[in-house]
Order: sequence, then C-alpha cells, then structure tokens
Amino acid sequence: MGYRRGMSAPSSPLVPTEELLTLRYGTGNAPAVCAGSAAIELMLAHRSVRAFKPDALPSGALEAMVAAAQSAATSSNLQTWSVVSVPAGPARARCVEISGGQQHIVDAPCFLLWIADLARLNRVGDQLGLPHGGNDTLEMFLVASIDAALAAQNAVVAAESLGLSTVYIGGMRNKPDEVAELIGLPQGCAAVFGLCVGYAVEDAARIKPRLPQEAVLHHGHYDLTVQDEAIARYNAAMADFYVREGMDAKGDWARHSVKRVAGPQSLSGRHELMQALRRLGFFSAEN
Ligand SMILES: Cc1cc2nc3c(=O)[nH]c(=O)nc-3n(C[C@H](O)[C@H](O)[C@H](O)COP(=O)(O)O)c2cc1C
Repeated sequence: MGYRRGMSAPSSPLVPTEELLTLRYGTGNAPAVCAGSAAIELMLAHRSVRAFKPDALPSGALEAMVAAAQSAATSSNLQTWSVVSVPAGPARARCVEISGGQQHIVDAPCFLLWIADLARLNRVGDQLGLPHGGNDTLEMFLVASIDAALAAQNAVVAAESLGLSTVYIGGMRNKPDEVAELIGLPQGCAAVFGLCVGYAVEDAARIKPRLPQEAVLHHGHYDLTVQDEAIARYNAAMADFYVREGMDAKGDWARHSVKRVAGPQSLSGRHELMQALRRLGFFSAEN
C-alpha cells in the first residue's frame, strides 16, 4: 500500500514506503523497516496542514475519529479526557486571537478542543459520596493530559486514513481560563490543545524530516553525547527542507528550537500555566 503525494487528490501518484522514510529522515538515513504495514505507512505520511478547503467533513467522520480516540489506551481505564467540537462563529474567531492569529482555526471546517477532564470523575465521586482528593494532584493532571494526547493522536491517524488533514493547536494554552469560559468548562477541565481538521488544499504541506533515530533510540542506557553528530546531520537536513520548500530560513533546527525555550517570555503566556490550571481546579493538593 502507498500513500498519495497530495493530501487526498485521487489522481496523484503513490509514494512508496522507502520514499516516505527518506523524506522523514533526510537523505541516506532510511531504516530498512516498515514495508507492508499500512498503519506505519499512514503514519510516515503524516504532515501538519495549515491550509484547508471549505468542504465539510464527510458524514460520520467526526464520530469515526472519536471512536478511534476512545480506542486508545487510557490510564486505569479512567478515560479522563473529553473533546469539544467548536462550531464556526465567535468562539472560533476568539480562538484564532488566543492562538496568536492562527487563521487555519477558522478556515478548517472542524475545530476540536481536547480536554484534560477530571470533572467527570469528581462528579461521579460526589454522586457516590466517595472522596476524590487524589484528583487534586499533579499526577492526575498528567494522567488526564496524557489520556487526551493519546486519544487525539488516534483521532489524527483516523482522520488521515479518511483522506483528511489536521494540525494541532498548542496556542490554546496561551489563555486557558478564557478558553474554558468560551466552551463552558467546569472546574477540573482544561483544554490542553486544539485540533483543526479538514481537507487540505492541494500541496499544502510536505513531510517534515525528523531527528535521526540515533538521537532518540537508545539501547540499554541513555547517552546524550552520541546525539551531537545526529543533531548536526539533522540541522543540515532541515536547512535543505526549508530551501526545498521555499520557506523563510529559520537558522538551523538546534538554534531555532533553543530560541523557542529561551526564557519564560518566549512561551506566549504559557509560563503562567500552573497558576491558570490551579484556577481551573487542577493540582490544588500541592503535590
Ligand atoms: C501539542 C502540539 C501543539 C502544536 N501546536 C501548533 C500550533 O499552535 N500551531 C501550528 O501551526 N502547529 C502546531 N503544532 C504542529 C507542529 O508544529 C508540527 O507537528 C511540527 O512542526 C512537525 O511538523 P509535522 O506535523 O508536519 O510533521 C503542534 C503540534 C503538537 C503536537
């Protein structure tokens, strides 16, 4: 099985697995695995898309994505996540502003907010007259965030299998209180990221290279120093990628990425996330 070079154009040529791997790892670094797995091929063909056609999702696609999301593993089967579909309108427009002007949030026919959700379990506890103070810990916020991320990624893979494209929107964490108010979240709920879903305009995005596996895959013990050479190679691959795509030169990956975490102020307001999450009812237990 092969994936189509464009997002869903039926006439575009198929891209063989080996080419997908080469695109993912830059030239000359494709591990000789994966052939024959439709699931792996689908994931290798992933790219975030920020230019959408106005066409609506096909009937049942959202429900199929949520079924895939609910099929993800979930810590202790607690299912501490929810998803809110935000219709076109003022709330969506406000999400664009909150995210720093990401227009694709209104251009996409579907915009989903993925929620770390401890409110459901708190309510069940109240109804049963049982204590639920464990939900007030950092651990349970992390559990809910991991649950939401695993669910969302299954939904992304499902969407891509239907010829749809997506982009996550971390910019929703710029103003967590306001996002919570926009969609009426109760205490114990926070939107951890958004997700635009729709049909990509033709040639909207290319497969972006990733770090060589030498940087991320370790055997026996973790070694930071061996990663230097892999990172140098990746810097070169990303520079090539930006030139090939005619994108603005962003410096190499290392500089660009470190700049992203230069200081609290470079996080678009998210350096105050802990206080916001406390206001939303998370980790009040101080541990
Ligand atoms: C949790 C999360 C939040 C993200 N937030 C944004 C965002 O706010 N805006 C955006 O354009 N892309 C966002 N992205 C997409 C990443 O920039 C993208 O995945 C990365 O550059 C790799 O590109 P690729 O997905 O095309 O391979 C986000 C991705 C993740 C996983």
